Amino acid sequence: MIALLSFLLTLGSIAPGAHAGADPLNPFGLSGLRYVANTTLGPPLELWHEFYDHWPTGIAISKEGRLFANFPVENLINFTVGEITGGATEKAFPNLTYNQPPSLVNTTNPQLAAGYLQYLISVQSVVVDPKNRLWLLDTGRPIVGSIQPYASGAGQKLVGVDLTTNTTFKVITFPPTVAYPDTLLNDVRFDLRPNITASGEGIAYITDSSDEGRNGIIVVDLGTGDTMGDPSFVGVYDGVPFTVIRPIDSPINPGAYARFTTGADGIALSADGEYLYYTPLSSRRFYRVPTALLRVPPNGQNPSAAFDAIAGVEFLGQHGSHSDGLETSSDGTIWVTANEQDTIFSFDPVTKILSPFVRDPRIQWCDTLSVGWDGYLYFTSNQFTRQPQLNNGTDLRRPPFAVFRVPLPNNATKVTTLV
Ligand SMILES: *[C@@H]1O[C@H](CO)[C@@H](O)[C@H](O)[C@H]1NC(C)=O
Ligand SMILES: *[C@@H]1O[C@H](CO)[C@@H](O)[C@H](O)[C@H]1NC(C)=O
Ligand SMILES: *[C@@H]1O[C@H](CO)[C@@H](O)[C@H](O)[C@H]1NC(C)=O
Ligand SMILES: *[C@@H]1O[C@H](CO)[C@@H](O)[C@H](O)[C@H]1NC(C)=O
Ligand SMILES: *[C@@H]1O[C@H](CO)[C@@H](O)[C@H](O)[C@H]1NC(C)=O
Ligand SMILES: *[C@@H]1O[C@H](CO)[C@@H](O)[C@H](O)[C@H]1NC(C)=O
Ligand SMILES: *[C@@H]1O[C@H](CO)[C@@H](O)[C@H](O)[C@H]1NC(C)=O
Ligand SMILES: *[C@@H]1O[C@H](CO)[C@@H](O)[C@H](O)[C@H]1NC(C)=O
Repeated sequence: MIALLSFLLTLGSIAPGAHAGADPLNPFGLSGLRYVANTTLGPPLELWHEFYDHWPTGIAISKEGRLFANFPVENLINFTVGEITGGATEKAFPNLTYNQPPSLVNTTNPQLAAGYLQYLISVQSVVVDPKNRLWLLDTGRPIVGSIQPYASGAGQKLVGVDLTTNTTFKVITFPPTVAYPDTLLNDVRFDLRPNITASGEGIAYITDSSDEGRNGIIVVDLGTGDTMGDPSFVGVYDGVPFTVIRPIDSPINPGAYARFTTGADGIALSADGEYLYYTPLSSRRFYRVPTALLRVPPNGQNPSAAFDAIAGVEFLGQHGSHSDGLETSSDGTIWVTANEQDTIFSFDPVTKILSPFVRDPRIQWCDTLSVGWDGYLYFTSNQFTRQPQLNNGTDLRRPPFAVFRVPLPNNATKVTTLV
């Protein structure tokens, strides 16, 4: 509440005559709730890239300043992961062959997407880890015609690419009790500290943002590919941590511990790796959970692990916007997209205060934020809300889609301590 109120006050600009009262949905006549961003705030945007042929959801910037983007597959596009090669050009990455599976649907069962291990199907997120390796998160679920078939086989995977050789060094697939056919892998963050897993290779935290019945956070040991025994779902339903836990090896839903219908979407790890921040896409609520609780595999030795993770979820208040991507910088700030206000907020984990950092009408749905080693915050503007399924079938998106960047305050840069 406090965060929202201070945000409204900061926005100012209450229209004259707005206090007419009477409106039961808005008894205080708060015209700020109908605010349309038409002012700018914070550092001016630098236009960094324009996309004309592909619709981006994720971007990632490497230590050398190489920029990568992914394009979830909507019918036939040329590639699902690209490297930016110029102001408005991209090329398939790591190569075109890897981006062009022989088919998008399973030819023997067209209800299912194809599940190739040796090809990318539809990548939702690209992230550069603190060791400067690029990871590709493949949902395995392209949109084909007007449907999004369920994933099959190795369609759902996390692929590590070595940026010195430009080739894959690791492909992690998920057991069927972790990634279900209707799972929608959405975003991923890395903690590569050697002492947090037995393998020493670190952890990937992945959100499942499926709106088809199962949401949560998947915890993967990058060394073994194990999902810490089973997934620790910590999502929320309408803002309330959902505690209907299914027993281990339930015949209804083997291996699953909890189910949520409003899933975590954007995630960010605190700069010290000890908290995972998340925000469900269809809410304005902001949460974090201690990663120590997520790192306990729910099994016979730790029968309460999933309960403990859910009980450990902290509600941080409203962030006042429909939010998608989250990101962290080396000064500890959590960056929060605020797409109803064409704004990016900063969250100070010490004071727990959210403040608008940059606002511009050209921020037309910031899907992803990526902090560079160069001290800039890179982010997308992809016109998400102009998609046909949100506009009665009419596609209102108009290329180009954009990447902008702004300099970070406090000399902040990429978090490189989690190695
Ligand atoms: C912002 O508001 C001014 C004054 O009402 C108007 O002239 C201008 O076109 C608006 N700009 C945008 C981007 O909406
Ligand atoms: C995609 O492929 C088509 C057909 O080969 C080609 O005309 C088009 O330029 C390609 N687009 C990109 C962005 O590479
Ligand atoms: C198609 O599905 C069948 C089983 O339903 C599976 O064995 C096969 O590997 C799948 N093919 C692809 C390309 O995913
Ligand atoms: C990897 O790709 C980058 C950019 O495309 C290129 O500069 C570099 O030479 C490539 N490395 C190898 C080993 O091919
Ligand atoms: C494309 O990249 C994949 C993954 O690194 C690799 O397995 C394959 O050999 C590459 N193909 C070509 C034609 O370079
Ligand atoms: C890992 O080691 C660091 C540095 O010694 C220490 O601060 C941290 O608490 C350790 N983390 C765990 C999970 O043991
Ligand atoms: C949605 O589209 C349908 C079919 O084109 C049309 O009949 C209907 O009026 C539209 N609804 C709205 C709210 O625009
Ligand atoms: C940023 O770094 C510069 C050069 O090291 C230093 O002078 C300045 O005080 C720093 N600013 C902040 C806010 O830490």
